[in-house]
Amino acid sequence: MRIDTTQLAGLPTPAYVYDKALLSETLAAIKAEIRDNANYHVHYAIKANDNPDILAAIAREGFGADCVSGGEISAALAAGFPASEIAYAGVGKADWEIRLALDAGIGMFNVESREELEVISQLATETQTEARVSLRINPDVKADTHAHITTGRAENKFGIAYEEMIPTIRLACQLPNITCVGLHFHIGSQLLDMRDFENLCLRINELQDLLDEQSICLGNIDVGGGLGVSYTDPDGQPIPDFASYFATFRNHLRLRPGQQLHFELGRAVVAQMGSLLTRVLYVKHTAAKDFVILDAGMTELIRPALYGALHKIDNISAAERGDADQRHSYDVVGPICESSDVFARDYILPRTERGDLLMLRSAGAYGQTMASTYNHRPLPHTFIL
Ligand code: LLP
Repeated sequence: MRIDTTQLAGLPTPAYVYDKALLSETLAAIKAEIRDNANYHVHYAIKANDNPDILAAIAREGFGADCVSGGEISAALAAGFPASEIAYAGVGKADWEIRLALDAGIGMFNVESREELEVISQLATETQTEARVSLRINPDVKADTHAHITTGRAENKFGIAYEEMIPTIRLACQLPNITCVGLHFHIGSQLLDMRDFENLCLRINELQDLLDEQSICLGNIDVGGGLGVSYTDPDGQPIPDFASYFATFRNHLRLRPGQQLHFELGRAVVAQMGSLLTRVLYVKHTAAKDFVILDAGMTELIRPALYGALHKIDNISAAERGDADQRHSYDVVGPICESSDVFARDYILPRTERGDLLMLRSAGAYGQTMASTYNHRPLPHTFIL
């Protein structure tokens, strides 16, 4: 975040603060990497951050959208994403959501089961529309990430088992008002080891060889999202390593002539442009520990409580006071009545006082979208600077 911190002093807290310039640079970096691949399409995963102004900025740059609910499809359309560039995934699509997607004429449903395929066919027939579907295949590829955000193993609830791929494609071809247009995959999130994506490519190559044997060729391959960001060094690595990411697919995935390759990046697009701005309510001294108690908690940013995630913490006020050199160890906690409401334990900060402004960094993805009103708290403010 390269926002001038003097702009933050008067803002109410807790607040999400977004750096518009960094978002633009990140979008430009993605576009530069895929410039020479006219068949590459990046759909921004709206679940990471659904702020309407952020969505509109991403839509203006020509990206598509990846949605997982009827609400996200409506938000994508309102922000200006073309319906034809919307992909819609999710294991539990409700009838009203399927109807909304059919009405809008979205680009593709990423279908997660035979049961869902049959319902989409029935609803498309009723509404006299045609559903373009990609089958989400569970590739049974292990990815090196937190257990809560790995999705591509056989035991996860997502997708169609890869042994079922060919019979399900045959079913899709027989069902009325369904056009089978591709295959979809997603192995997990916050992946930094490119070998995970390489393994996905190898599995897709095997599956495409099986399809060749049956003379089936589908026009679209969607490899999902998952590229991670540096939570430890947001200033050193404000823009994720898109070059290595796209090169992995270029080098390892064998596309068939004319095939389109789709990506669904969420976190990598928006994480580093956002910070959670919060004020210190109390510095509580006990025999065991010193606690910094913030006005933001797990209600504003649940990732530490849910995944054990660590977001870098900056004390802006201490830096301005000239206290930056006086290091001290604190447990940094929120005000919520839960012992898991802890942002960091034994965290080294400059000497911290009541009223100090702190920033929890890399909070642009899965921060505001996962906020809740638990303890009857208001949702956080938002400022785009
Ligand atoms: N496509 C599908 C089908 C997905 O399920 C997801 C994320 C994405 C794309 C985007 O993944 P990304 O590029 O952002 O990794 N709340 C968790 C992350 C959950 C991700 C769920 N699916 C967190 O805060 O780490």
